[in-house]
Amino acid sequence: MKKILQIGTNGQVGWELLRTCSPLGELIGLDYPAVDLSDSAGLRELVRNTKPDIIINASAYTNVDKAEIEPELARAINAIGPGVLAEEAKKINAVFVHYSTDYVFDGTKGSPYIETDVTNPLNVYGKTKLEGEQAIQAAGGAYLILRTSWVYSMRQGGFVSKVLQWSRQQEVLRVVDDQISGPTSARLLAEVTALLLARADEDLYRWFGERAGIYHCAGDGACSRYEWAKVILELDPNKSEHKVRQLLPAKSSQFPTPAERPLVSVLECVKFERTFYYNFPPWEYGLQLALH
Ligand SMILES: NC(=O)c1ccc[n+]([C@@H]2O[C@H](COP(=O)([O-])OP(=O)(O)OC[C@H]3O[C@@H](n4cnc5c(N)ncnc54)[C@H](OP(=O)(O)O)[C@@H]3O)[C@@H](O)[C@H]2O)c1
Repeated sequence: MKKILQIGTNGQVGWELLRTCSPLGELIGLDYPAVDLSDSAGLRELVRNTKPDIIINASAYTNVDKAEIEPELARAINAIGPGVLAEEAKKINAVFVHYSTDYVFDGTKGSPYIETDVTNPLNVYGKTKLEGEQAIQAAGGAYLILRTSWVYSMRQGGFVSKVLQWSRQQEVLRVVDDQISGPTSARLLAEVTALLLARADEDLYRWFGERAGIYHCAGDGACSRYEWAKVILELDPNKSEHKVRQLLPAKSSQFPTPAERPLVSVLECVKFERTFYYNFPPWEYGLQLALH
């Protein structure tokens, strides 16, 4: 039976991973403060004591705006901690699964990004996530970095929950139509992660070692936040509760935020599909499954 150390169990992806990875073996799931990604010594001790076959890191400093004023903490959690986990994983021949973001790109390419495209993060969050990728790659071993985008779950305050909440509070919603990416269901991402881990043959470390690298893995297709909100409202199973009468497009410049965000950061997932023979369903279908 495989032993899985899952770091991050309360977040959007972490919670769903608990469901999807529990059947795969003995799962040890921990979240802050039981495990602190900014405590390198603690991370090393944890891995050495638990000796897992697989380490999944679903933790991160994800508050994009707050990261602008806490760059060192964001760096410790998003860059240094994941690098330490990758080093420790390699030492004990454990597979290391980590998530990264479309925010490593500046959003100016004009077409979907592939894994080898030049990175140029616009904000501290994106920079620290990129440094995390680099630290993991430098450590080597059997690592998988799954870059994803616009993750949502029904469990806590992501974009989908916010739109549903606003729709019950306001008659007019204004949502930006100049930020474009692929909404990704945390549940589907966790399911894909578990399917990957389940399909590998007995020698997990060798199997993933041969396929180690960065993969784009996100809801298929693309939309603006405005289009996303429109479909959320259409698919809402409890439309009778809507107070909202109008959904209007807006521009990012009308809602200034501390962190700049890439405008078009759609991820092309062909490498993932060709390597693992899985495809992410269209984002609208993922949303329908999440809402019903
Ligand atoms: N959300 C998105 O739109 C998005 C997009 C692209 C990529 N990603 C990536 O996908 C992954 C999962 O994201 P998510 O949306 O599931 O994140 P999330 O819901 O914000 O969860 C992050 C988790 O990390 C934990 N955490 C924070 N600081 C920690 C620390 N010092 N030590 C240990 N754990 C700590 C949080 O604990 P607390 O709850 O106690 O703070 C939380 O459980 C991340 O790598 C993220 O960068 C997310």
